[in-house]
Amino acid sequence: MTTKILFSTVRVGRHILKNRLVMAPMTRSRAGDDGVPGPLVPEYYAQRASAGLIISEGIYPSAMGKGYVRTPGIHTDAQVEAWKKVTAAVHAKGGVIFAQIMHAGRISDPSLLPGHALPVAPSAVRPEGATYTDEGMKPHVTPRALEKAEISGIVGEYAEATRRALAAGFDGVELHAASGYLPMQFLSTGSNLRNDEYGGSAENRARFVIEALDAMIAVAGADRVGIKIAPEMAFNDINDADPVETYVTLVRLIADKGLAYLHVTPYGKTVDYHELLKPLFKGAYLAGAGLDREKAAEMLAAGRADAAVFGTLFVANPDLPERFLRNARLNTPDTTTFYSPGAKGYIDYPALEPLAA
Ligand SMILES: Cc1cc2nc3c(=O)[nH]c(=O)nc-3n(C[C@H](O)[C@H](O)[C@H](O)COP(=O)(O)O)c2cc1C
Repeated sequence: MTTKILFSTVRVGRHILKNRLVMAPMTRSRAGDDGVPGPLVPEYYAQRASAGLIISEGIYPSAMGKGYVRTPGIHTDAQVEAWKKVTAAVHAKGGVIFAQIMHAGRISDPSLLPGHALPVAPSAVRPEGATYTDEGMKPHVTPRALEKAEISGIVGEYAEATRRALAAGFDGVELHAASGYLPMQFLSTGSNLRNDEYGGSAENRARFVIEALDAMIAVAGADRVGIKIAPEMAFNDINDADPVETYVTLVRLIADKGLAYLHVTPYGKTVDYHELLKPLFKGAYLAGAGLDREKAAEMLAAGRADAAVFGTLFVANPDLPERFLRNARLNTPDTTTFYSPGAKGYIDYPALEPLAA
């Protein structure tokens, strides 16, 4: 089948992307303990600027949102200054880059948080499993349930992070509402046992996400705001009794906001979430997880999505669009360097030799 469709332009909110190949948000843990992205980060993203759109690694909006060692934030001036170098390097190569705003909620550890505080969550439900820290693997702790009066403060952090992301030169922002982090903890029945207006019905469980999105929209304009969701993803011990109801409700509530995009990585075995959700949403629909060149072209040609998102393939292939265009061999991702400090496995994946003129 023809893969030409991958290389056609597409409108995503305020931006026209040069192709339909999107780099997925990926935590790479190359920041300092102060959350300042390290010196290799501009080069890493600039190498990948031939993507139609880059979505950055998850970036915490506040010190309490940090989830992992050596991840970056965007709540201090030093962090913003370092991000300016990243966005400038991407723009110099003609790229477009959104910042993914990620609050880890209960998937954090006191060793990462101010004053060794307990992580916060909709409810005091401990996730099964453990998290990597510099002191080794530690079992997840029982988080502290947020008081209702605190929630508007966290929503405000998303607005402030958006303001800082734009000041740092990002072209837009993505709300990370997947992978079992704070917004998904609110969405999911297993982690949200609240009996106020933030818990119970699907509409109530979606309230936090809607408020965070609205706060981001008020700062950036809806056409520079996207959202990532992952129905039925079980990562970080997240689970939901009725994901179809949860996500249909959520997408109906956000459909008319004029968002730049809805980004979906579905994990359901029995439900075709692209078929279910895309028709409900007005705006660009980005689909990812487990794609390759042919699957992506087929998906776009069938109208199941407007752009295709690639994670691990973009880690290992900085020039992924060029490789797809030439149907060239792909580098193999080295999983041992996904989160390790330093240049190895980060900025040293080779690009193709240029074609002779
Ligand atoms: C090293 C690594 C780090 C990731 N970090 C994030 C993240 O910060 N935010 C996020 O939304 N997804 C994250 N993901 C998930 C990816 O965005 C993507 O959804 C997933 O890799 C599936 O796409 P793929 O099959 O093309 O790799 C990460 C994936 C990998 C491999």
